[in-house]
Amino acid sequence: MAAHVAVPTALSEAAPFSVLVTRRLPHSAMRILSTSGLCEVQQWDSDESMPHAELLSRAPGIHAILCLLSDYIDKEVLDAAGPNLKVISTLSVGYDHIAIEECKKRNIRVGNTPDVLTDATAEITVALLLATARRLFEAAAEVKSGGWSTWKPMWMCGQGLSNSTVGIVGLGKIGCGVAERLKPFGVKKFLYCGRHPKPDKADRLGADFVPLPTLLAESDFVVLCCSLTPETAGMVNEDAFRKMKNSAIFINTSRGAMVDQDALYSALQEGQIAAAGLDVTTPEPLPTDHPLLSLKNCVVLPHIGSATVATRITMSILTAENILAGLRDQPMPAEVLLH
Ligand code: DGY
Repeated sequence: MAAHVAVPTALSEAAPFSVLVTRRLPHSAMRILSTSGLCEVQQWDSDESMPHAELLSRAPGIHAILCLLSDYIDKEVLDAAGPNLKVISTLSVGYDHIAIEECKKRNIRVGNTPDVLTDATAEITVALLLATARRLFEAAAEVKSGGWSTWKPMWMCGQGLSNSTVGIVGLGKIGCGVAERLKPFGVKKFLYCGRHPKPDKADRLGADFVPLPTLLAESDFVVLCCSLTPETAGMVNEDAFRKMKNSAIFINTSRGAMVDQDALYSALQEGQIAAAGLDVTTPEPLPTDHPLLSLKNCVVLPHIGSATVATRITMSILTAENILAGLRDQPMPAEVLLH
C-alpha cells in the first residue's frame, strides 16, 4: 500500500497540537493546517483508507483527528487517543461513523460539512432517479452488447416524472434540494415524512407531511434523504417494500444501513418494486459478487453524491477550518451540536 504517515517533529510552543489526518486531501486544506502554526500534522498520505490498526497505533496523544466517513472513530479509537483529544472533524455531513455519545461524555467537539454539499448531493439524487427510472444504464449496455435490434414500442420503457407522486423521507436541506430540482419535471405531488412537520419548507414546495406507511403506499418515487440514526437504521425493510407500489422506484443517496438489502434484493427480483438506484450500500464498497449487482433493475453508484471538484475542495477546507477552530476553543464553522 503506497502510504506513509509523516512522523511529526517534536511539538513546540509555536505548534502545540498534533493532528492526525487519515487520508490524502486537496493541498488547499493541508495548507490551512500546515501554515496555521498551531499544529504538527501526521497524514496517511494515500487515497486508500488508513487501516483501523494503523489509526489505533497513531492515535495516542493526538489532539485532533481529521477523518472520513470510512474511518470508524469508535470508543477504541477514543480510548487509544486518550485525554488530549479535543476535536474530530469529518469530511462529510454524516457523522454516524463517529461514537457521538462517547464524544459527548469526553467533551470532544465534532465538526462536519453540512450545506456545502447540498447542491451536489441533490443533483446526484436527481441524476440517479432519472437514470434508474428511465433505465439508462441498462439501455446503454444493450447498445454495446448488440441487444438493440430495432425500435420497439414497449422496449426499455421506464417510469416518467410528470404527474407523479414523489415521497421524500427526510425533508432536510438535501431533501428540499431534490424536491426543488424535481418540481420542474411536472411532479404532481410531493409527500414527506420525518420526525416532525416542517411547514415553512413544505409550504414553499407544496409538500404534504404524511406517516411513512402512507408515503410508501402512495409514492411513485421513494427517495431516502434522512440521516442514519438508531431510529432510521434498517427502516426500509421487507414490510416497507411490501407497502410500495409495484411500479415504485426506490432511491437512496443517504446511508446504506437504512435499507435491508436482502429485502431490497427480493423486492426487485420478485417485481414488488420496479427498480432501485443506490449511491450508498452496506458495506462500501459493495463486493462485486453481491446479488444486487446481478439485477438489471438496480443501479449502484460508488457513493459519489458530493463528488464535484469544487464541492470536495470546499468540504476539505471546511474540515481543516473546523479542526483549527476546535483547537483554538473558538466556534467551529460547522459543529455538530452534542446535546
Ligand atoms: C456525506 O457527506 O455524509 C456524504 O455521504 C458524502 O459526501
